Amino acid sequence: MALLIRNIQQLVGVQDPNVPLRNKGLSVLPQRSNAYLIVEAGKIAGLGTMDSLPADPAQFDAIFEADQYQVLPTWCDSHTHLVFAATREEEFVDKILGLSYAEIAAKGGGILNSARKLQETSEDELYELAWKRLQAAIRLGTGAIEIKSGYGLTVEAELKMLRVIKRLKLHSPIPIKASFLGAHAYPIEYRSDHDGYIRSILEEMLPQIAAQGLADYIDVFCEDGFFNPAETDRLLKAGAVHGLTPKIHANQLGVSGGVEVGVANGARSVDHLEYMDEGSINCLSGSSTIGTLLPSCALFLRSPYPPARKLIESGAAIAIATDYNPGSSPSFNMNLVVALACSQMRMLPEEAINAATIQGAFAMDLQKEVGSIAVGKRANLIFTKPMNNLAYLPYSFGENPVQRVMINGVFQD
Ligand code: NIG
Ligand code: FE
Repeated sequence: MALLIRNIQQLVGVQDPNVPLRNKGLSVLPQRSNAYLIVEAGKIAGLGTMDSLPADPAQFDAIFEADQYQVLPTWCDSHTHLVFAATREEEFVDKILGLSYAEIAAKGGGILNSARKLQETSEDELYELAWKRLQAAIRLGTGAIEIKSGYGLTVEAELKMLRVIKRLKLHSPIPIKASFLGAHAYPIEYRSDHDGYIRSILEEMLPQIAAQGLADYIDVFCEDGFFNPAETDRLLKAGAVHGLTPKIHANQLGVSGGVEVGVANGARSVDHLEYMDEGSINCLSGSSTIGTLLPSCALFLRSPYPPARKLIESGAAIAIATDYNPGSSPSFNMNLVVALACSQMRMLPEEAINAATIQGAFAMDLQKEVGSIAVGKRANLIFTKPMNNLAYLPYSFGENPVQRVMINGVFQD
């Protein structure tokens, strides 16, 4: 079954880099006007401009006219907590009334609130809730996603969460990567026995996760009041022994030392980066670790936005993602993330689109499969609303710029 998509107004993201984009390279978003794309067996089988279309249209099983559309690779959302039991709008009101994220966490809210609810929710129910969210994210243009555990915080509940993610992987039309985030917060019973909880992660959780193939990455919330750099280092080294690559939360609430410990352990990405001093910027830019910025989290918590321009200019490789979770970023909308990256972090539309596609793919080790328009990659495509200029996409924030989504060569509506 071969599909010809022809007369595409603009085909965006026609590239296949071997390494993440940096510096001025991030603003290069190769495009073809009046283009065609051939899709076969769910993958991109050919592309070019209409004047070079080699084949006779009769050889295609289906032809789709795309003269109305900008066609982009689907978004790669490389940081989410999509599996959770319940939303937390009551804490949202606490935040409006003036409580800080740290104050809410200290009074047993926040992550511990989500953990309590998740422990009480059945595996099937968690799966159903997560599946619906995943479908909704796909309709907004997400075509690859990373999902973390970390709302279990007991051996049993962390394994349950990871099994839910594994089941999502099995049934999902889009690729999913799983991160084990047992070190998300200290459970109440371990409040004065940090070493006891770390031992439970190292001795009970990690061996079972590895034996059952439940995770691709190990994540730690490296932050004052959560896991310090020495604890993070210990956890990442143990994760590596079990074949898990680090991908961590760093510098969300302060300059935590998370960037340094992540880079020293060869992290695939260090995520958040709201607080970056010169040392942490230089550490990141001199490494192959990707800095993943989460602007909808900064928006929701009224935190400073990560210094995207400084990071780009220092040569760091950056990506952007939603951080979708019930506490600090209750949105899985990558279109909003792209808009915020432009309006609040002064990223150019081309930089933001690269950061949300190919850079996110690198941050999930999925760059061979998704993240750009290249022969051999999945035909995971966004067809935008009619627009003359791609800058309209981040400019028209709050509007859904996605008209149709194709996953593995199949329209999702
Ligand atoms: O990425 N920072 C730590 N974890 C999440 C928040 C989790 C929560 O509040 O439930 C985040 O922002
Ligand atoms: Fe997060």
